Amino acid sequence: MISPCWLSALTFILLLDLTCARQIALLIIDVQNCFLPGGSLAVTEGDQVIPLINNIRSEFKADLSLVVLSQDWHCSDHISFASQHKGASKVIQLLYDKSGSLCDENNSCTEVAYNLTQHLWPDHCVINTPSANFSHNLVHEPSDLVVRKGYNCKVDSYSAFYDNGGFRHTELHDKLQEAGIDALIITGLARDYCVYYTAMDAKKLGYETYVVLDATRPVTKATGDSTVADMKIKGIQIIESPDVAGVIVQLTSDANYLHSTFILMISIILCFFKCL
Ligand SMILES: *[C@@H]1O[C@H](CO)[C@@H](O)[C@H](O)[C@H]1NC(C)=O
Ligand SMILES: *[C@@H]1O[C@H](CO)[C@@H](O)[C@H](O)[C@H]1NC(C)=O
Ligand SMILES: *[C@@H]1O[C@H](CO)[C@@H](O)[C@H](O)[C@H]1NC(C)=O
Ligand SMILES: [Zn+2]
Repeated sequence: MISPCWLSALTFILLLDLTCARQIALLIIDVQNCFLPGGSLAVTEGDQVIPLINNIRSEFKADLSLVVLSQDWHCSDHISFASQHKGASKVIQLLYDKSGSLCDENNSCTEVAYNLTQHLWPDHCVINTPSANFSHNLVHEPSDLVVRKGYNCKVDSYSAFYDNGGFRHTELHDKLQEAGIDALIITGLARDYCVYYTAMDAKKLGYETYVVLDATRPVTKATGDSTVADMKIKGIQIIESPDVAGVIVQLTSDANYLHSTFILMISIILCFFKCL
């Protein structure tokens, strides 16, 4: 016969076991037609990331609590489109007031609170166009979370968490928190823009962050190299797809170690002082 004291100790341990389990999400950034060969803002060899990403999700299906697809989703006259800034150079400055509203062409804001550098791009990923669709080669399941970004016509959004001014956030962080996610494996396009800014925000938000380098491609080699160097400095783990298996084993065995330590401690405390 188990005493009620031992039974409560056991329940407590089981609850701890559930709360300690390490949860991992796979983030697939902007694998959309506009960024693939043939698209209006094609990333060189962008299509080569697709089989690697599909492979990660199928091989580690049991270990991934959530798969997230981000989708660049722009107004047809989006502020990041060069077509909206006739004659402007490739990079411009955009001014916003403290509420995140764009100051007009005469900078008529009562107070300029933000001065953002905006790279100008060809028109791409316009809402409800085939250009914005995910590649049909990318595995996409009904249980995947789709996070759209960049639909505010006046602010660009590289990161899947926040727009470029940090004015507004997407639903991503809340959804990851709801699912109890603490580690992110990030893949997709482009390495030096949307993958980079998503990884930087993920790290700031406290996620253990891994970028699978061969499952990303940069817009340019120079910015690809400098952003990878920056990510390493910030403590983001840069790995290759063959390393994913080891990372997942590591993450789950860390959790197991944590479980054993907790269980041992709680058992000693509860059972030594109360149950005896
Ligand atoms: C900016 O100033 C010019 C010249 O004064 C004026 O014609 C234009 O309408 C102004 N633009 C806005 C958005 O107020
Ligand atoms: C915005 O930043 C750019 C580049 O740093 C600078 O040249 C420009 O004067 C700034 N504009 C305002 C209004 O602060
Ligand atoms: C784009 O995606 C939408 C929604 O998933 C779908 O209805 C549409 O048929 C797709 N278009 C093309 C050209 O694949
Ligand atoms: Zn975009």
